[in-house]
Amino acid sequence: MMRIAHVVGARPQFVKLGPVARAIAAAGVPGARWQQDVVHTGQHYDPQLSERFFDELGLPAPRINLGVGSDTHGAQTGRMLAGLEQAFVELSPSLVLVYGDTNSTLAGALAAAKMHIPVAHIEAGLRSLNRAMPEEINRVATDHVSDLLLAPTPAAMAHLAREGLAARSRLVGDVMADAVGHSLSLSSPDDARLAGLGLAGRRYALATVHRAESTTAAVLPDLVGTLERCAAEFETLLWPLHPRTREALRASLPGWRAPDNLIVCEPLGHSAMLRLIRDAAVVLTDSGGLQKEAFLLGTPCVTLRSETEWVESVQAGANVIAGSRPQAVLEALRALLHRAPPRAALVALAARAYGHGDAAMHIVAALDEFSRGTSDER
Ligand code: UD1
Repeated sequence: MMRIAHVVGARPQFVKLGPVARAIAAAGVPGARWQQDVVHTGQHYDPQLSERFFDELGLPAPRINLGVGSDTHGAQTGRMLAGLEQAFVELSPSLVLVYGDTNSTLAGALAAAKMHIPVAHIEAGLRSLNRAMPEEINRVATDHVSDLLLAPTPAAMAHLAREGLAARSRLVGDVMADAVGHSLSLSSPDDARLAGLGLAGRRYALATVHRAESTTAAVLPDLVGTLERCAAEFETLLWPLHPRTREALRASLPGWRAPDNLIVCEPLGHSAMLRLIRDAAVVLTDSGGLQKEAFLLGTPCVTLRSETEWVESVQAGANVIAGSRPQAVLEALRALLHRAPPRAALVALAARAYGHGDAAMHIVAALDEFSRGTSDER
């Protein structure tokens, strides 16, 4: 029997867990060949970043929640390591599955590897080649201690090969493509809130900002100025605020008031967010997930960073890397809106890059092959 422990902790991981948990549940006689438990580190604890995703997406309830909360990287990751070690003793998983690039990903992989429990990494091989990002350190370290590297794209496979990890790597497609299709089909408790925003029929832009490097006192005021300038190009710019950004705004721009056509709102659930992305004229973001969701839904995207892991969206003409300075972003935005391929063409290119929503099925097949011992040995 294969007993899988999924380690998750942050919002994008809940989104990725959905398709994988469903595919595993469908893979065998329920409860017989495959058993799965969810371990939540508690990195995200606000109900609107965590609980509501479990409810809305119908995710298996966490068997264990470590409740580590927020802290410095060392303290947070350290508490996760200690808690996960105990969780793995309790659950004795035959395989640990980790997702993406957060501190929860690294802690899950490291705790399991030290206990000689095989680790599979979903979204392996992504690289920004910018080691100043905590996520880049998490990606590299996680890939190097994992036993099975489940890569979303050929570009990710090439990074893994360059780092000597080809024998442990499998190209499976991107589970976010699976998640987008499923979440869009759900109705959500946010639908009433969405209707209340009065965006129907309007030409609006959608913005998100949450990364550590975007929310410093040096960068955030620039980004806010950028969003104000971009808002002037549309009837409305909607900005759902991550709690970290809300705190940073209070700290670095205490008296800031949004102009009339820039609407700041609470974070939303996945299906509401996807509908907003799909219907927006453009997405402005520093999030990796949103860049990809925009591409999958055919909406052009301006990335408020200086590099991206999702190079396929840039190659397709769907995404432009613009940094955070107002003038540069404004120019990039105008140029993109002028020359972006039609939506249907973008949707087709995204499906070619990230798969047609069958990544979870390929992941289950790779896990099955691995569990039978037919994978290459470490
Ligand atoms: C984490 C990930 C990031 C991912 C993001 C998705 C790391 C290093 N970063 O960053 O890659 O894109 O999740 O959202 O793991 N906070 C709350 N409530 C919460 C959680 C966080 O208010 O439920 C605030 C706290 O002030 C906290 C700050 O956000 O100090 C940063 O929390 P952190 O654990 O680093 O998560 P994210 O910034 O969301």
